[in-house]
Amino acid sequence: MAVHYVGNAADIPEGSFRTVDVSGRSIGVYNIKGEYYAIHNYCPHQGAKLCKGPVCGTMLASDVYEYIYGKDREIVRCPWHGWEFDIKTGKSLFDGKVRTRSYPVRIEEGRIGIVIGRNEEEPVTADKK
Ligand code: FES
Repeated sequence: MAVHYVGNAADIPEGSFRTVDVSGRSIGVYNIKGEYYAIHNYCPHQGAKLCKGPVCGTMLASDVYEYIYGKDREIVRCPWHGWEFDIKTGKSLFDGKVRTRSYPVRIEEGRIGIVIGRNEEEPVTADKK
């Protein structure tokens, strides 16, 4: 596990994002209501630069003839074919198994750190090999 510092938190105000390059990976860092999230700038459908898509919300599950808008500014929509992903988790809205990679973010002394790699203290399980 390595923490890569990519800039100052103050440079990404609430409701905005920035793409950064970390070890050859393009990563989008988003500030959602004061919390920072990082996702791979790559759509698993056909490889578009996901973070070029608009940030929006979505319609939540609801009863028939009921429309409830939610997750405002927490969703990014792929610019090529419109697949939508939850910025907080990297999961697509239509199938949680389809996802772009998300990375833990640490704020240390005002700097944004993106954690990449397996935590060596975590036990190795079959899905982490
Ligand atoms: S490349 Fe993203 S939805 Fe097709």
